[in-house]
Amino acid sequence: MRALVIGAAGFVGRFLVQHLLEQGDEVFATTLREPIELPQERTFALDITSAASAAEVFEQVRPDVVYHLAGISFVPEAEADFDKALQVNVGGTANVLRHAHLVSRRTAVLFVSSAEVYGQVEPSDLPIRESTPLRPANNYSLSKRMGELLVERYARQNALTCTIVRPFNHIGPGQSSRFVASNFALQLARIAHGKAPPVLQVGNLEARRDFSDVRDIVRAYRMLAHQEGGVFNLGSGQSRPIHSLLDGLIRVSGLKVRIEQDPARMRGPEVPELYASFDRAESVVGWRPQVPIEQSLSDIYRYWHERVGAESATI
Ligand code: GDD
Repeated sequence: MRALVIGAAGFVGRFLVQHLLEQGDEVFATTLREPIELPQERTFALDITSAASAAEVFEQVRPDVVYHLAGISFVPEAEADFDKALQVNVGGTANVLRHAHLVSRRTAVLFVSSAEVYGQVEPSDLPIRESTPLRPANNYSLSKRMGELLVERYARQNALTCTIVRPFNHIGPGQSSRFVASNFALQLARIAHGKAPPVLQVGNLEARRDFSDVRDIVRAYRMLAHQEGGVFNLGSGQSRPIHSLLDGLIRVSGLKVRIEQDPARMRGPEVPELYASFDRAESVVGWRPQVPIEQSLSDIYRYWHERVGAESATI
């Protein structure tokens, strides 16, 4: 099975490449600029907004399965620069689909969308199913929904086998410190190493989100890419307030800290609660999340504790 991972140097991409190798796939990967741990002949520098570069990669690799992970993934980044979110998340996706199709219409493409496409979720919508109405409300969710619409067109025309995954929040060691669990863990690690005073800056701790571990998520990607296509939610099936994540990380660190709300970390109106029904993924491929949240939090804290100990890390 020739698998092509687009956006392999990102947080999820690294775990996915590792998982595919462990499963015996022949893995090819693209990266915007960061290196990937694969033999050189298996890796390609690719900016997905360049149609010519995308064409070259697909011609060379001729993959059976494409995992399209490349994109703007941080909600405030898309909020600050909608043009870029459109170029990468929509224009880039159009390039990937077009060139996957030109090489072979039998290619399977897994497109990583987001739970954010459900947008303005009402309490009566919970748990969120794939049939829940889509009301994307911010730049990020709009760009992801537009990407989905492109994928749906190829699926409708039987031009590719298309799977859309809508992961809810997923965390793990190596995630950028822009995201909440890594950010809190990095701050705690800096305090533990005496590099910061015992004060932790936070944003909205009341939002409730559905967190799962990146290792469960990449396992789902491979299982789902190997079937007939469709749309799948991926989450833990329960919501937790952000403050419970913070409490868990503080517990792991063993530190005593003061919590301060930083107005710059507060976003505009946020949906108060999101959580998934993953029944469809479970019934189609038998996927269930396995990694307990305590394990994720402890691995994330350990990762940052080692990094801060070894070098000067910034938030
Ligand atoms: N980043 C951050 N930093 N978030 C904070 C902080 C903080 O200091 N304090 C509270 N939060 C809250 C945010 O307001 C948000 O409600 C929640 O923590 C999670 O924020 P992020 O980790 O930045 O993730 P996200 O929910 O915006 O988006 C993630 O999940 C989506 C799927 O639901 C990303 O992984 C997206 O790429 C993904 O599509």
